[in-house]
Amino acid sequence: MDVHEAAGLLRRGEVVAFPTETVYGLGANALDAGAVRKIYALKGRPADNPCIVHVDSTGMLKAVVSSVRGEAARRLMGRFWPGPLTIIFPRSEALPRVVTAGLETVAVRMPNHPVALELIRRTGLPLAAPSANLSGRPSPTTAAHVEIDFPGVPVLDGGPCGEGVESTVVALDGRPRILRLGAVTLEHLRGVLPGIGIAEQHPDRPESPGMKHQHYAPSRPLVVFSDIERLREYARENDVVVLCKDEFAAGFDHVIALGMTDEEMARNLYGALRTDCAGCEICVLGVPKEGIGRTIMDRLERAATRIV
Ligand code: TXA
Ligand code: MG
Repeated sequence: MDVHEAAGLLRRGEVVAFPTETVYGLGANALDAGAVRKIYALKGRPADNPCIVHVDSTGMLKAVVSSVRGEAARRLMGRFWPGPLTIIFPRSEALPRVVTAGLETVAVRMPNHPVALELIRRTGLPLAAPSANLSGRPSPTTAAHVEIDFPGVPVLDGGPCGEGVESTVVALDGRPRILRLGAVTLEHLRGVLPGIGIAEQHPDRPESPGMKHQHYAPSRPLVVFSDIERLREYARENDVVVLCKDEFAAGFDHVIALGMTDEEMARNLYGALRTDCAGCEICVLGVPKEGIGRTIMDRLERAATRIV
């Protein structure tokens, strides 16, 4: 399928999966409640979990928000858009309730991917799109991952995603804070807004509703290690597939090397979490919680069966 065909389907109220620089999204016209409901039905997404709206311009942003108040929002957009940063704004009345799951706010981002931008431009519409995985599965970083979770849904193939983890979600009312860690790091954000922090997580009523749902569950039990020696010992005695950075990969029987750097590890992680091996456990060697490592560890800790 090409961008022209995909844009036609979207304009007719259909759902199309498309690539972004973070992960693949399952998109629909954000201004069409019926189209957005199809996304929830396909994903099995809880009705209280709002979608991110994707725009290609600040002109389109103005159609989905009621105001772009504040210096902080302008500075973040100037620095990180297009890019993997989602900002929470007051919603426009024109936006159907289903997109924001009844909230008075809407999450918006401008993706930094040529295919995504071209698709939005050709469609001429803001696209509501959650990650294109069944609820509770790792987010898809290739078109093939989408096809496994949603056989029959049209997918625009833009190759593997460059970031491999989702966008960072920030709220700017009151103290600027990160609601969901993602591809833009806390350190990056502090370069623009020195006072920004990470929102406290209330497990029962998080500010970002998606954070209370079970996330990124791999198909096999997942054990997260911080110590390579303990991992080696465990791997000698148990049936495991090890996921770790290249420098630690030697000496394991079954290992998926995730790259040299934390950025490469982020890019390769979700694909590796889809590994299936009858009866085995997936063991991941963690990384320090700094830069993109903080996002990697956030995802691993949410997905873990056990943390050692
Ligand atoms: O990188 C990404 O963000 C990908 C690509 C496709 O753009 N999308 C994505 O969407 O990860 P999703 O639906 O899997 O995650 C959206 C997150 C959820 O945690 C949701 O609760 C939060 O954003 N969110 C959406 N609207 C919100 C709002 N109005 N207030 C607070 N959190 C919101
Ligand atoms: Mg998701």
